[in-house]
Amino acid sequence: MDGTSHPATPPVLILLGPPGAGKGTQARMLEERFGYVQLSTGDLLRAAVAAGTDAGKAADAVMKAGGLVSDQIVIDILRDRIAEPDCAQGVILDGFPRTTVQAEALDTLLIESSQQIDAAISLEVDDAAMVTRIAGRYTCAGCGEGYHDSFKIPTRDGICDNCGGTEMKRRADDTVEAVGARLEAYHAQTAPLISYYDDKGVLQRIGAMGPIDEVATTLGRVVTAATTT
Ligand code: AP5
Repeated sequence: MDGTSHPATPPVLILLGPPGAGKGTQARMLEERFGYVQLSTGDLLRAAVAAGTDAGKAADAVMKAGGLVSDQIVIDILRDRIAEPDCAQGVILDGFPRTTVQAEALDTLLIESSQQIDAAISLEVDDAAMVTRIAGRYTCAGCGEGYHDSFKIPTRDGICDNCGGTEMKRRADDTVEAVGARLEAYHAQTAPLISYYDDKGVLQRIGAMGPIDEVATTLGRVVTAATTT
C-alpha cells in the first residue's frame, strides 16, 4: 500500500479498454499497490463456468464465441461480489460495465451504497496490436498471474514468479476468431461508455501502447490524483 490518504467512501475505479488493452494486468498491479480489490467479471464468469453453475452454463458458449454474456447474469454476479466485505477497501472494476444497461445498473448500486465513481480510465490502444497481445497470453493455473510469450516472461522458464507454480494455462476464447468477435463487441457495445463517463466528468484517457511498467506508472498517478482530491 502507498501512503496516500483516501476519502471516506471506498474508491470505485473503472478500467475500460478492448480485449488485450491490459485491464487485468494493470488491475492486479493497482490491487497490490493501493489495496483495492480487482473485480473482473471475466474471471467471475470463468469461475462460474468451471463450477458449472446455471450462470456459468448460460455464459460458456457465448464467451467461447467472443460475444457478451447477458446483462442480467453479469449484473447479478457483480452485485453479489461487490457486497462482500473485502470490497469495503475500494474496488477496481475490470471488464465491467460493458454496456449502457450495465453502467446504469452500476450507478444504481453505487447510489444505494452512497458511493461514487472516482475515475473511469480508458486504456487507449491500437486494435491491430491486441491480437498479438492476446495470442501470446497465458496465466499461472495456481495463482492467476498473467504472462506473455514475448512481453512478460517468467524469470525462470515455466515457473510462476508469484507462487512458484509450474502449471500454465491459456484461455478458451483466445483464438483468432473469438478475438475478432470480442473486438467487434467492444466497439459496438462498450466504446460508447467512454462518452457516458466523459459526460459524468470522471473519464481519464491513458495511452496504453507502451511497456507494462510505463503504463502502470501513468495509471498510478491518475489513480492517486482521483482518490485523493
Ligand atoms: P474478460 O476476461 O474481461 O476479457 P477481455 O475484456 O476480452 O479482456 P482480456 O482479459 O482479454 O484483456 P485485458 O485487457 O485484461 O488484457 P491483459 O491484461 O490480460 O472477458 C472475457 C469474456 O467474458 C468476454 O468476451 C465476455 O464474453 C464475458 N464478459 C466479461 N465481462 C462481461 C460483461 N461485463 N458483460 C458481458 N460479458 C462479459 O493483457 C493481455 C496480454 O497482453 C497479457 O499477456 C499481458 O501480459 C500483455 N500485456 C498487457 N499490457 C501490455 C503492455 N502494455 N505491453 C505489452 N504487453 C502487455
